[in-house]
Amino acid sequence: MFEDEINKLICAAVNARNFAYAPYSGYKVGAALYTVDKKIYDGCNIENAAYTPTNCAERTAFFKAVSEGNKKFSAIAVATKNGSGFPCGVCRQVMREFCDPASFIIYISDIEHNYKKYFLSELLPLSFGPENIREPL
Ligand code: THU
Repeated sequence: MFEDEINKLICAAVNARNFAYAPYSGYKVGAALYTVDKKIYDGCNIENAAYTPTNCAERTAFFKAVSEGNKKFSAIAVATKNGSGFPCGVCRQVMREFCDPASFIIYISDIEHNYKKYFLSELLPLSFGPENIREPL
């Protein structure tokens, strides 16, 4: 990805963070998912008084995109105040469903746009995905 595209994606994640509904943890997260045809789907975390129905920012972005017919992605940016927003295990598994672990990029950023880059294969090694469940008859 070009530097200007990365910046645009991180900007979208930082902006989406403003919509975070996080009254219980106070930990606001924004995400921005980049499709292969260069569309951006953003998302924020949405918490719940019963705790478990909470949806992470990454999954909000994925479910918005997939529910609108987009299933091919090249990268996601995740923004938190201090850049500590590594995707949880559930979100990594959702990424695994739709993305190639060797090429899908995860940018972990703070709100000043300081970021680090990871491949999904680094964050979710030896993973189980759609190919694994299809055994020959
Ligand atoms: N959270 C995210 O939205 N994404 C992450 O990458 C880490 C965790 C949310 C879930 C919950 O609303 C809050 O952060 C604290 O766990």
